[in-house]
Amino acid sequence: MIREDFVAHLPALLRIERACFARPQWGADHFLRDLPGKWELSALLMEHGAVAGFVVASEVVAGSCHLHRMAVLPEMQGRGLGGAAVRALERRAAARGLRMVTLELDAEHGDTEPFYRRLGYLLLQAAERETYAKAKGKALRPDRRIMSASIRSGDT
Ligand SMILES: CC(C)(COP(=O)(O)OP(=O)(O)OC[C@H]1O[C@@H](n2cnc3c(N)ncnc32)[C@H](O)[C@@H]1OP(=O)(O)O)[C@@H](O)C(=O)NCCC(=O)NCCS
Repeated sequence: MIREDFVAHLPALLRIERACFARPQWGADHFLRDLPGKWELSALLMEHGAVAGFVVASEVVAGSCHLHRMAVLPEMQGRGLGGAAVRALERRAAARGLRMVTLELDAEHGDTEPFYRRLGYLLLQAAERETYAKAKGKALRPDRRIMSASIRSGDT
């Protein structure tokens, strides 16, 4: 059960958060908060028996998978773990019948846009942003970039 894994590895998750973000924002409550589909979609990224990263996603908007946060320990970055984790998330989402993965980048994630672009993610344009904000039921900060990719049940 993934929630129990998150509880068991909470100190490692908090350590990764501090190591990966200039302004670490996520505390225990963020990692452990229940959201629709979260425990089926999220994952710990394990390397040599230790937690090297995490992906937290949920179905906060019905019919699509939202990637809330992901990170890989700095010393483990650039080895394909992050890319593989996104692909694995897409497979889990497709298995649940979801059609799309969305994610939000703010200034703090400035240079990760190319990482997601390479995986096929595109920035939402004005009209799509409005649809997204409505579906999420909240206003979007203007500096917040939203990216999305379509997924199909046959995606691997
Ligand atoms: C984004 C992240 C999860 C990618 O994980 P990863 O395991 O390094 O990803 P991969 O090894 O699959 O892909 C690495 C590629 O993406 C690019 N990339 C990844 N992060 C990047 C960054 N912060 N800036 C620029 N390029 C980046 C690299 O150029 C690399 O390309 P290369 O293989 O040609 O060198 C990781 O860099 C990370 O944890 N960053 C800090 C936290 C963060 O910003 N998370 C995303 C927002 S929630």
